[in-house]
Amino acid sequence: MMFLGLSVTHTLALVTGTLAIPSQQLNTRQQPFKSTAITSHAEPWAIAFLPDSRVLVTERRGNLRLVDQAKKTQGSITGVPAVAYAGQGGLHDVALHPKYAENSIVYISYAETGTGGAGGAVARAKLTLDANGGGALSGLEVIWRHSQRATGGLQFACRLLFGSDGALWISAGEINQMTPAQSMTGNLGKMIKLYENGTAFADNPFASQGAVQSQIWSLGHRNPLGIDWDAQGRLWEVEMGPQGGDELNLIERGANYGWPLVCEGKHYDGRTIPKHSTRPDFAAPKAFWVPVISPAGLIIYKGDLFSSWKGNAIIASLGTQGLVRATISGDTAKEAQRISMGKRIRGIREDKDGAIWVIEDGNNGRLLKLTPN
Ligand SMILES: *[C@@H]1O[C@H](CO)[C@@H](O)[C@H](O)[C@H]1NC(C)=O
Repeated sequence: MMFLGLSVTHTLALVTGTLAIPSQQLNTRQQPFKSTAITSHAEPWAIAFLPDSRVLVTERRGNLRLVDQAKKTQGSITGVPAVAYAGQGGLHDVALHPKYAENSIVYISYAETGTGGAGGAVARAKLTLDANGGGALSGLEVIWRHSQRATGGLQFACRLLFGSDGALWISAGEINQMTPAQSMTGNLGKMIKLYENGTAFADNPFASQGAVQSQIWSLGHRNPLGIDWDAQGRLWEVEMGPQGGDELNLIERGANYGWPLVCEGKHYDGRTIPKHSTRPDFAAPKAFWVPVISPAGLIIYKGDLFSSWKGNAIIASLGTQGLVRATISGDTAKEAQRISMGKRIRGIREDKDGAIWVIEDGNNGRLLKLTPN
């Protein structure tokens, strides 16, 4: 499914939101950064920084890798559970507990197989590092699961992000089931807010309605692959649309983002979908892309190294083979720049020193550290 969308995305002639982008911005070939290759990985998916400057990298087949950025070496972390490596599924995100320095707890998201197909799961475990550049997970405990499984192996998403209040956020994809994204009796196509132990957060908008509903912060999402905070503490999200209609959303408490009832794109079989403008009761994207950019990750840049990018959304893009930068002003956003990197970019994270790290998609996906020229 995804490849149908991607095959038409490598074009620079497009319209973003309602604004045409001046052609000289789209044709940016010169990269505004120095790119340092650290390691190479088999289908890497996500990056997390350890306090000591080492980096965790997930590989979709189920390998968790520990990267020493100074030595440019990597080791293996054992104890990852069996993952459903098929379609888009496998080992997905990794995130550190907010008190990792004290408790060494990490969280992983992954696709798992069961009755009816595959679904996403989130687990936490203690990470013990050894003296040989590797380590092990122990005491693994699954704290969240998709409420339904499906065949096809598509659109798990399940990015993980902690908030300043200690909450764990999960961007749960709709595993290509569409209408369940609107159903309040399941957690497909939802933004999920939990305590670090997996219990639903007390202030969630539907907390009084029951077990699954109580996890839900927002609904009507399709394939939400990137989430990050801005400096004001607002949550932004990127999600892949079908044929057209990738979105950058500002996530509001209890809001419904409309999938699959409204979308700026259309179905892969050509069927049209009503536009957001027909249903003002649904939250509309702050920026959207037709044709798609296939957003796979998101940061809202907060550092000083790339000072002119402060507050901008930097999107890891599979379809454009690079980064897409959007400016945010109040609660509006618009595309400002595309930076070609010649490879599908799968993940992006900002380190505490303001360096931007990305990972390329595919079999020899490089982990790259980006610093200003
Ligand atoms: C999970 O954490 C919350 C908040 O600290 C607490 O209220 C709840 O009892 C915990 N649940 C379990 C099962 O430990």
